[in-house]
Amino acid sequence: MAEPGETIKMMLPEEELDRRIRELGKEISEDYAGESVYLVGVLRGAAFFTCELAKRITVPVTIDFMSTSSYGSGTVSSGEVIIKQDVEIPVEGRNIIICEDIIDSGNTLHCLLKLFRERKAKSVKLCALLDKPDRREVDVKVDYTGFTVPDEFIVGYGLDYDQKYRNLPYIGVVEF
Ligand code: IMP
Ligand code: MG
Repeated sequence: MAEPGETIKMMLPEEELDRRIRELGKEISEDYAGESVYLVGVLRGAAFFTCELAKRITVPVTIDFMSTSSYGSGTVSSGEVIIKQDVEIPVEGRNIIICEDIIDSGNTLHCLLKLFRERKAKSVKLCALLDKPDRREVDVKVDYTGFTVPDEFIVGYGLDYDQKYRNLPYIGVVEF
């Protein structure tokens, strides 16, 4: 399955992801009892996670997706995030949960949190399947985290390396 010169080392098997996402779904369902939630998945990485999470939430759920990119190029992030594709379903007055595959520098979630607050959401929370705290540049509070991971290049379950490996049903690390 891996390309020549690349191997994928298993980090989190499918069963463990499934178990943890189930727990997150339960926690969210309890926190929002009597209310509804609006999941905003950040494309493309969080597509798988957002859908799996949605299936395990028992309060009413709305789902939409958006796509972002970092401003400029290179490895030095300016901290600016561009919206390439926005949500279509209105945000005002809703309980937004922004769903990310991984929080790395924190810039994306920091900017989206601000954006959805400006749009007068009733509440905005952040949910990330994975957290790489060693790489944080901005202090962001993630309300729901699946797993904390070390500073390695992670793929699978929606996460890519050069647009590859998103379809792996588990989380792995690319070794070159
Ligand atoms: P940040 O928190 O704004 O730096 O952005 C996080 C985004 O960078 C994630 O949504 C991913 O798309 C991408 N990313 C960060 N670390 C990894 C990784 O290890 N594998 C794949 N994508 C990553
Ligand atoms: Mg992403």
